[in-house]
Amino acid sequence: TDIAFVLGTRPEIIKLAPVIQACERRGIEYVIVHTGQHYSDSLDSVFFDQLDLPDPDYDLAVGSGSHGEQTAEMLVGVERALEETAPEVVLVQGDTNSVLAGALAASKMDTELGHVEAGLRSFDREMPEETNRVLADHVADYHFPPTDRSKGYLLREGISAFRITVTGNTVVDAVERNLDIAREKSTVVADLDLDDSRFFLLTAHRAENVDDEERFRGLLEGAQRAGDAHDADVVYPMHPRSRSRVEEFGIDLPPRVRAVEPLEYLDFLQAAASADLILTDSGGVQEEACVLGVPCVTMRDNTERPETVDAGANRLSSCDPGRIERSVAAMLGASDWENPFGDGDAAERILEALPVEAPSTEVPQ
Ligand code: UD1
Ligand code: UDP
Repeated sequence: TDIAFVLGTRPEIIKLAPVIQACERRGIEYVIVHTGQHYSDSLDSVFFDQLDLPDPDYDLAVGSGSHGEQTAEMLVGVERALEETAPEVVLVQGDTNSVLAGALAASKMDTELGHVEAGLRSFDREMPEETNRVLADHVADYHFPPTDRSKGYLLREGISAFRITVTGNTVVDAVERNLDIAREKSTVVADLDLDDSRFFLLTAHRAENVDDEERFRGLLEGAQRAGDAHDADVVYPMHPRSRSRVEEFGIDLPPRVRAVEPLEYLDFLQAAASADLILTDSGGVQEEACVLGVPCVTMRDNTERPETVDAGANRLSSCDPGRIERSVAAMLGASDWENPFGDGDAAERILEALPVEAPSTEVPQ
């Protein structure tokens, strides 16, 4: 096997799909090792279907658990899968516990590791994602930062320039490939009765926000005030983590905020592209908003995607209701910026930089 893709969550499936499809086009052999960190259909299998991905070769079915337990179980399972398949290179994407487990397993087995979306930094070590991405970068052999800025962070941490290829973000490849299909096929805007109204799209699932009752209530109140101020519905496809916190804290959603099930990728793209503004604490959604030309307010204290803020596409509001309302007022209507995340050929650049080649199809003389 040339490449083992280790993945486990919604954003990894979406952002590795372009690389997997590029392997198909080039005839590069690969296996998919799914950790099972995400397992609900709406966070997992629906993306394999919509993105035309083959079923995983391994499903480790690790599921939810404490960070230590979850990561440890994945490490055991990924090691076994790598022993059986002996890939030339392991590829991981992003900053989840699945990434950490894949990176550690590859490094312990002395298999080369490539990190897609390397070099992102929030400089907030309280986020589990920050630790995961720093550790993955420091055991990786091939680094694929999306921008020069993330390359700069890697260099500053002592990572050699010859290991680094700036590729752009594969999120652009995915948007370019799927946006027209979404426009054609998705009926989400009509289904949610949003045709004739102004609406904001809200996603919030990050542990430091939704596991903290005060912050969670604050961001919902901010969304409510912004919706009221601009006569906009706020549609909230709710991650299961957030859904269980709403129940646990006994939160009644404010009237402007309409919770719906997590959306399929094409529906999400179509809803995002059609929204007047996006409120989020997601990493990938900050990028997509920027790529789609939709203004974004990020309900966090920091971001590992500062390129979006510098471009004028995004503003940080924390979870303070007043700041959210003011940030929405400031961002609404903005749309004129340059996409800092590349031209949609990130997947091809990644494969070019790896020591893998398709078998020769030339007929011997
Ligand atoms: C994980 C990542 C986060 C990423 C997010 C993408 C880590 C530390 N966190 O967060 O960086 O932004 O994925 O969505 O890796 N649950 C389900 N069904 C599922 C998966 C989870 O119901 O298929 C529920 C369970 O109650 C679980 C909770 O969501 O306890 C949290 O799941 P977990 O995978 O630990 O973290 P995420 O919040 O999904
Ligand atoms: N997404 C989706 N349906 C939803 C919400 C998000 O398809 O209801 C997609 C979105 O297009 C983006 C990705 O999920 O590509 C972001 O994942 P998430 O916010 O879960 O994780 P993060 O990027 O914060 O790690």
